[in-house]
Amino acid sequence: MNLVLLGPPGAGKGTQAKMLVEKYGIPQISTGDILRTNLKEQTELGIKAKKFMDAGDLVPDEVVIGIIDNRLKADDCQAGYMLDGFPRTVAQAEALDKILSERNSGIDDVISIEVPNDELLGRLTGRRTCRDCGQGYHVIFDPSQKEGACDKCGGELYQRDDDNEATVASRLEVYTEQTQPLIDYYQKKGLLRPVNGLGKIQEIFDRIVSVLG
Ligand code: AP5
Ligand code: MG
Ligand code: ZN
Repeated sequence: MNLVLLGPPGAGKGTQAKMLVEKYGIPQISTGDILRTNLKEQTELGIKAKKFMDAGDLVPDEVVIGIIDNRLKADDCQAGYMLDGFPRTVAQAEALDKILSERNSGIDDVISIEVPNDELLGRLTGRRTCRDCGQGYHVIFDPSQKEGACDKCGGELYQRDDDNEATVASRLEVYTEQTQPLIDYYQKKGLLRPVNGLGKIQEIFDRIVSVLG
């Protein structure tokens, strides 16, 4: 099962991906997570990506395409994977198609998590993430049992640098301009599976599972 999770910032891609990993046993590949890990480790890639991420802009296509090209060669991807936050431009989607067709493979389903813009700011500014295991929380909608600590591993919860109001505003604009066209792109290929992203986290998960059949 080769999946793409598509949706605006704060739609719940990461939240749902973590639950889908448990159910289907395929890895979540998040370009955002890979870039943040690189930044934390101060790699050349991370340092280069930082200025784009802080501004809410996209990192250049060739950088993220290179990351994905490499990552998909790993053993754990051979039985399927979930792409979270990639592709997010038409150029990235075309590059992905090319990479996969050269490997006699392709995307099976594109889950498009639909959430209206006015819901997203609150989701993003209230998000907290575990430093150690990456589990996501929300201070109101999905709080951890003990404030500031991860339920799963006890790790410290932090707020992402790009989850402030100003950066969120640019991320939403960038999404509309550069990523939204992918809805049409995958619709035309017959791969688009729209899912209503409003409601409880578990309800949305159930919708995705039923769409996947
Ligand atoms: P990335 O990390 O991918 O961020 P994003 O796409 O902006 O998406 P988010 O991670 O913010 O949202 P999400 O949909 O995962 O939501 P989540 O599940 O956490 O990218 C960051 C940056 O990296 C980009 O800006 C760019 O610079 C760069 N980048 C990454 N990929 C790139 C690419 N392909 N090309 C170029 N540049 C790239 O949920 C959000 C919050 O809402 C959480 O607190 C959660 O608990 C809560 N929540 C979830 N579901 C619900 C619900 N149903 N009800 C209420 N609250 C909910
Ligand atoms: Mg995410
Ligand atoms: Zn944790």
